[in-house]
Amino acid sequence: MPKVLVTGGLGYIGSHTVVELLEQGFEVSIIDDLSNSSLDILDRIESITEIRPAFDEIDLKDKAKVLAFFKSNNDLTGVIHFAASKAVGESVDKPLHYYENNINTLIHILNALKNCRQQNFIFSSSCTVYGQADTLPISETAPVKAAESPYGNTKQVGEEILKDLSQIDENFKTILLRYFNPIGAHKSAKIGELPIGVPQNLVPFITQTAIGIRDQLSVFGNDYPTPDGTCIRDYIHVVDLAKAHVVALNRLLNKANNSNYEIFNLGTGKGSSVLEVVKSFERVSGQSLNYRIAPRRQGDIISAYADTTKANNELGWRAKYSLDDALKSAWLWEQEIRKNS
Ligand code: WQD
Repeated sequence: MPKVLVTGGLGYIGSHTVVELLEQGFEVSIIDDLSNSSLDILDRIESITEIRPAFDEIDLKDKAKVLAFFKSNNDLTGVIHFAASKAVGESVDKPLHYYENNINTLIHILNALKNCRQQNFIFSSSCTVYGQADTLPISETAPVKAAESPYGNTKQVGEEILKDLSQIDENFKTILLRYFNPIGAHKSAKIGELPIGVPQNLVPFITQTAIGIRDQLSVFGNDYPTPDGTCIRDYIHVVDLAKAHVVALNRLLNKANNSNYEIFNLGTGKGSSVLEVVKSFERVSGQSLNYRIAPRRQGDIISAYADTTKANNELGWRAKYSLDDALKSAWLWEQEIRKNS
């Protein structure tokens, strides 16, 4: 069985990707520093798949430990790199933490990867790199715009590092996956999104409001130039996203004569406004949601949704779940994790 390293494999998207990899016959090794997750997720992955992947608690900022790991795991056939800090607002307050935790760690891994016979690397990127795109839907050829946060800049810098590496080493093959807005949870309701503190993202704030942890959802602005005045995003089910990583890894492993540096947008291709998400949630949950219209949130772009042509036709992947499916799974997960609290 091909062996793959998943960094950040106990995180939200990472854990869902580990499940899909295990179910498709990969041997998985996880590195996570547990700064934004817990070992309980490893138990939950095992309870879903009946396989307990190898796990090492390593801080990827520790260059020596990263090197030691790769030297003792030089039979790795690929790396899927999720581990990073990802809160836009926090990155504005702590830019150096973000550059150290997102860039230094990437460099440590790429340096150590040279010890492996195969250098196949999948990078977790984000539609954030496009900023407010001039054309919608957004294709991979859309220009990368000046980052509006240190977090967004770490994604752009990470992409540039990978591009430079791919140009000087044909044995280094990489695929950049630019996620739109991941939401939802595994159908088992054993893994899902676990924001620490007050959720910054829309869907966990909705589910926490519905279950009574938050009093009221603030809809950040309804005076945007959109049909109902609220911002539009492309909300993609996290399981669809996880499956795309397995497809991308197989693309790297099958040694076809693709470019050794490829970019794919991962979205549903459908834009949904904040109020449409609220109405969809109320429909699938049967819960009336308490919300108010609040002032705009600084830094929000008006509208972003993916042109999925390249992912559908070249990667051979397509999102299958609807917004309703994803919100239903998010609601079941919220109810599940609050059962025992
Ligand atoms: C979506 C919409 C908000 C919360 C961010 C990062 C992106 C990626 C996903 C990491 C916006 C509105 C939100 C709330 C609201 N993260 N909203 N009330 O900002 O599109 O993307 O998370 O990779 O890089 O930028 O997602 O869920 O925060 O916001 O009205 O309490 O919901 O204004 O229009 P966003 P989001």
